[in-house]
Amino acid sequence: MDDLWHYVRVYNLMDHKFCHNLIHQYENDDQWQKHFWYSHGEKSQYEDKELDVRFSTASVELNPYIDQAITEYCEETPHLYRDQIKEWSSPRLNRYSEGTMMREHSDLIRRHKRDGVPVLSVLGLMNDDFEGGEFYMRGEHLRLQAGDIIVFPSTYLYPHEVREITQGIRYSWVVWAY
Ligand SMILES: [Fe+2]
Repeated sequence: MDDLWHYVRVYNLMDHKFCHNLIHQYENDDQWQKHFWYSHGEKSQYEDKELDVRFSTASVELNPYIDQAITEYCEETPHLYRDQIKEWSSPRLNRYSEGTMMREHSDLIRRHKRDGVPVLSVLGLMNDDFEGGEFYMRGEHLRLQAGDIIVFPSTYLYPHEVREITQGIRYSWVVWAY
């Protein structure tokens, strides 16, 4: 259990039809906005490469998958029990069009004082028909497929990034569990 990689888990839970429908439901509406950083002080040199995000999305559809991923994660993780995770944020959709990216960061983020810091980050990848957009964790490339849900601790030990999209559009969602 000394290996930090033990705490990074991937579950392929969402089938292609579900992913396709979710993308189709939101891809062209007007609720998307440019991503911004809650903390990190200075402005990014990559500001013009920020992805689009969409809040208030698909909680009902996604919750069973999020619940399943967190439950399996807790079963595989010593000293973490399912009843210690009480809730998660409403899902945020991420849309990376060509030329956008997510620079390296950790999820040690306080959105509101009352939330504290999240325990787990839960990320779902909805498609893989794009070029670039590789997911890197701790400097290593994790090869994710459409339908994968990745779960990892929201601490500074797990910096991650999405490399620049060179072709197509990459769709994912994220929640932070408390
Ligand atoms: Fe993140």
